[in-house]
Amino acid sequence: MKVSIIGAGYVGLSTGLTLASLGNEVYFVDVDEDKINKLRNGKPPFQEPHVKELLEKNLKEKRVKFSSLYSVAIPKSDVIFVCVGTPSKISGEADISHVKDAIKNISKNLDKKFTVVVIKSTVPVGTAKLLKRIIERADHNNFSIVSNPEFLREGYAIRDTLKPDRIVLGVDDKRALEILSNLYDPIIKQSFENIVEEKLSRQVPVVVTSNISAELIKYAANAFLVTKISFINEIANVAENIGGDIEDVAEGIGLDPRIGNKFLNAGLGWGGNCFPKDIRALYQVAGKSGYMPVLLKSVIEVNNEQRYRFLQKIVKVLGEVIEGKTVAILGIAFKSGTDDVRESPAIEIINKLLELGAKIKAYDPLALENAKKVLKNNSDIIFCTSPYDAANGASALVITTEWPEFKDLNFKKIKGLLKSPIVVDGKNLLDKDLMREMGFKYHSIGRK
Ligand code: UGA
Repeated sequence: MKVSIIGAGYVGLSTGLTLASLGNEVYFVDVDEDKINKLRNGKPPFQEPHVKELLEKNLKEKRVKFSSLYSVAIPKSDVIFVCVGTPSKISGEADISHVKDAIKNISKNLDKKFTVVVIKSTVPVGTAKLLKRIIERADHNNFSIVSNPEFLREGYAIRDTLKPDRIVLGVDDKRALEILSNLYDPIIKQSFENIVEEKLSRQVPVVVTSNISAELIKYAANAFLVTKISFINEIANVAENIGGDIEDVAEGIGLDPRIGNKFLNAGLGWGGNCFPKDIRALYQVAGKSGYMPVLLKSVIEVNNEQRYRFLQKIVKVLGEVIEGKTVAILGIAFKSGTDDVRESPAIEIINKLLELGAKIKAYDPLALENAKKVLKNNSDIIFCTSPYDAANGASALVITTEWPEFKDLNFKKIKGLLKSPIVVDGKNLLDKDLMREMGFKYHSIGRK
């Protein structure tokens, strides 16, 4: 099939490269010319497993093309995926202006043949209906809008696209459903061969529903996940006060299959480019619909409070005086496995420590370049090339991202480099008993 992808970010690139690897002809359109030029030369705009390899392979086999012009891609396409960003407005509402612009540009270039326009961007409930009207106003009626939310995680983008837990299709048109079912058939049946990883041994379930329900499914899924994280963080705070261990509590409740053991890691709370903005947007959607989402409100509050509590912990262990002290920060990405620092808890902790007069020595295995762009022009922060460099001369070592490699550091060496043997672990990454046996003053979340 001939497919266009509007927006070459995480969702667009993963979708397009996967569909190209399944034998489709894929045209990427992005307004960022620099990004387009880099992609043409096999250079992905972010660090993500398998993206470079699939990009190079599909460029070589001439199954992918890149352009900043809608006019070259849209008329030929059977299916067009809209994968542009929907950032937060100041009010918390999702800003769908990029989606609207994309739809207007698509309308200007649509052919007379039947075309399926798929909305993968996370959009407020009711957006598909609004977009349909925009295309109709441009005098087109041979098209259908499908809401097909994306559930991929950064760090697993290609894996999650090839082997999703489910595919959700919000659609009110039989032809469109048939076309998308055919396009997704190798993924649904897991019948593809030799693409990146082992395939699943089962079929992928497909949920066919209305546009509105599909739009709500995306927000509800992320809202449920953040509720789980805020819940475990709240219990962690109780555990800490009464002398319990949140890791044991999480194991004890997670073995109940109704609860499940995933997303029960207590820590600094949720961040990233998706959870915070989507939860804010759902909060607005609910309010506009006339319902006050009280649970969601608390979930957000617990998350904000979690970072503040962690900061207080650092201040306390440093003897209430931060001014002039150096703090080593390990981890700047919002989670491990990515170079993304958007709404990263680590960035907020660093900024607050700087405000309190601390000097920062920060290290991250992948995110240093992005961190430098966000934390620029501050002479009180030094970006280090290794965790040991960061620890050298610092009054405390603070872990803010759960990079697995931090577990295997030579802590004997780190102890020798630190001014005082203090470790504050915001991700419960390290073995508390071992750290204390080594002579560290070790503090973590929800563990005495
Ligand atoms: C998340 C969802 O997991 C995806 O299903 C969804 O498609 C995506 O948002 C999106 O809407 O685009 P992602 O942002 O890549 O994916 O990150 P997650 O792995 O879900 O982690 C999000 C945040 O929660 C991170 O800050 C992470 O450290 C935190 N987290 C996660 C915890 O604090 N505890 C946990 O147990 C799990």
